[in-house]
Amino acid sequence: MPAIVLVGAQWGDEGKGKATDALGARVDYVVKFNGGNNAGHTVVVGDEKYALHLLPSGILTPGVTPVIGNGVVVDPGVLFEEIDALTARGVDCSKLLVSASAHVIAPYNRALDQVTERFLGKRKIGTTGRGIGPTYADKINRVGVRVQDLFDESILRQKVEGALDQKNHLLVKVYNRRAVSVDQTTEVLLSYAERLRPMVRDVSLELARALDRDEIVLFEGGQATMLDIDHGTYPFVTSSNATSAGACTGSGIPPNRIDRIIAVVKAYTTRVGEGPFPTELLDADGEKLRRDGGEFGTTTGRPRRTGWYDALIARYSARINGVTDFVLTKLDTLTGWERIPVCVAYDVDGVRHEEIPMSQSDFHHATPVYEYFDGWSEDISSARSTADLPKNAQRYVEALEELSGARISAVGVGPDREQTVVRHDLLG
Ligand code: GDP
Ligand code: IMO
Ligand code: MG
Repeated sequence: MPAIVLVGAQWGDEGKGKATDALGARVDYVVKFNGGNNAGHTVVVGDEKYALHLLPSGILTPGVTPVIGNGVVVDPGVLFEEIDALTARGVDCSKLLVSASAHVIAPYNRALDQVTERFLGKRKIGTTGRGIGPTYADKINRVGVRVQDLFDESILRQKVEGALDQKNHLLVKVYNRRAVSVDQTTEVLLSYAERLRPMVRDVSLELARALDRDEIVLFEGGQATMLDIDHGTYPFVTSSNATSAGACTGSGIPPNRIDRIIAVVKAYTTRVGEGPFPTELLDADGEKLRRDGGEFGTTTGRPRRTGWYDALIARYSARINGVTDFVLTKLDTLTGWERIPVCVAYDVDGVRHEEIPMSQSDFHHATPVYEYFDGWSEDISSARSTADLPKNAQRYVEALEELSGARISAVGVGPDREQTVVRHDLLG
């Protein structure tokens, strides 16, 4: 079972970092294949809590080779800061590999992300402001700067010049900002080259060889299915393919090498930023979920919007990603509710939908149809097997499994690595 993809099933922050970390001891490579430092993964190991952004969550496991694939957008300054902070805490980051073809987040793209959001006003996306969208736009527009360009000063200068040609017009004439200097930008980017050089690899080749040696490679998605640029709630999405197919384009590994696809899904739903969210709770119940679940962004600290579990989204994720196994997280957060609603269909202007509506306008107007499940009040944080869970918690998990289109192989009952109920072996 050598190549495994792990993605988020909802709008992010499902607990992918914890799930990756928990598998860490059994895998050889953890590859980040999309997104950048818009991601925020909190991983708890004993008394230590780590917040990871750009580095793959496998970095915390000695023995794992962490890899940043070509599909990632890399802010080298952030990368070095994150490496330094982890190294200072005793984490070995020396094995990190970075694809020569990954795109670099240039300072002007960070500025543009923030300025466009401000310009959009009420129509803003609520981005993380890290320059993610503009950097992917440059990539598609064929004016991006890649990691390998940092090692060729004249090419780099040409590329920066090309990119700034248009952007400076935009910054000055539309956004009323100062023009960005080609020299200064080139210098900043060049200053990263020396430290980056020993990490840079042909990642596709490295991973193909690892798989040929029967080593285990885990592809870790940032963001999630509903934030995917193609399959998410466009335009309220991130700018990359966060779904399982992105693991191939974002790393250079072909689809027929992938053996297993794990989606991480929260026992309720959260979302950061703008966009539709049918099961959102804007009342005291939503506030309670946010409080009990500690639902505040790892990257921007923004309060996460909260709502009940949406089985249509889980089923959609199962289909789009080809999910073989779900990891259900944060079941412990639901402890104490008398009854727990689960969305089993949408009502759109009087019509019942059992699949995500084809058009975004319908999705915006969807009201959830709920089924109700009895809750439990016992503390479940030390449960390690299904039998340790109260009967109603077991029933809730079984009901979600039936509604969601793939088996639930693990259930999270707390933030720590160890706090997991295993139902089926994820790697077996
Ligand atoms: P990611 O972006 O998908 O990696 O998720 P985040 O790290 O942004 O958010 C998930 C949060 O839930 C983190 O604070 C985790 O420590 C925490 N977490 C993960 N799994 C569980 C769980 O099963 N129970 C509880 N209580 N917390 C969890
Ligand atoms: P992890 O990996 C939750 C959201 C932002 C915004 C939209 C676009 O921790 O699950 P961007 O900066 O990517 O252009 O913002 O996507 N977003 C996330 N929401 N978790 C994330 O990552 C996210 N990464 C981006 O809030 O709505
Ligand atoms: Mg997160």
